[in-house]
Amino acid sequence: MRTDNDTWDITTSVGSTALFVAAARALEAQKLDPLAVDKFAEIFCRAAGGPWAAVVDGEAPDHPLKSEGFGRHFVTFQAARTRYFDTYFRRAAQAGVRQIVLLAAGLDSRGYRLDWPAGTVVYELDQPQVLEFKRDTLAAHSASATAERREIAVDLRDDWPQALRDSGFRSDEPSAWIAEGLLIYLPASAQEQLFAGIDSFASSGSHLAVEEGRPMDRDVFQAKVQEAKAADNERGQWWQLVYNEQHAPAAQWFAERGWSAEETTLLDYLADVGRSADSADAEAANMLASVNLVRAVKG
Ligand SMILES: C[S@@+](CC[C@H](N)C(=O)[O-])C[C@H]1O[C@@H](n2cnc3c(N)ncnc32)[C@H](O)[C@@H]1O
Repeated sequence: MRTDNDTWDITTSVGSTALFVAAARALEAQKLDPLAVDKFAEIFCRAAGGPWAAVVDGEAPDHPLKSEGFGRHFVTFQAARTRYFDTYFRRAAQAGVRQIVLLAAGLDSRGYRLDWPAGTVVYELDQPQVLEFKRDTLAAHSASATAERREIAVDLRDDWPQALRDSGFRSDEPSAWIAEGLLIYLPASAQEQLFAGIDSFASSGSHLAVEEGRPMDRDVFQAKVQEAKAADNERGQWWQLVYNEQHAPAAQWFAERGWSAEETTLLDYLADVGRSADSADAEAANMLASVNLVRAVKG
């Protein structure tokens, strides 16, 4: 169960969710027609070892990512969101933005993977041990960053804006922000602080991208958590990390503050990129139907 000041490394608690989504990206990259290729995702999984290495080596048939219902669709979901946000960042860079803020960077490798214009600074915020795992793993593979990276080891439920400022972020210059795979792990109060922090730090011409999910009915959620506690497996542990709270739909919240916001359902985006979202599995179908991808530009 979550507490307000819990911490983690890359293989425990919320940290392991970074490996989970990296493993999904690695599996997508192994397909013949991938929606997105993150060549570092497999490297992270191998470095973590155990079930993470096994799943990318095709040696863990019982891993949740390998299931025909949930797993197959989760991999497609991660691939689609990677593609959507890669496109978002390319546009922001083309528009002249040179400050990139990865909120809950986890194993997001965009600081090594995207072709950033000279002078770009990528700020990566996450828990210290998560950032350390990424840095050490990529250094061991002689990977070079494609922009100047500045790590900010911080808990996003605390005073992250001060930490960002202390790292040299300029709120008088445009920036591009991302909250990908993050909001479900934050209570509504921290989501509000996150949105307010972005709005107050982002100058005119700044960009924002958010992935959000609609919270479940409270009773259904509680039943899932109880079931998960009894199951004592990886999916069960995941349910116990989720807050199931939503401060406000991002597009609406930012539009009310002068941003021009555009919301796309994951289902519509999957249709746009030619991927099927048909699933007989109720958990997979609910997951795909509950996600929105949001991008916004501050006027
Ligand atoms: C599912 S991963 C997503 C990582 C990355 N954005 C991506 O899509 O690959 C969630 C990440 O959120 C980070 N995270 C969650 N809650 C956080 C908090 N309160 N403070 C800092 N990082 C947090 C975790 O450490 C983890 O790296």
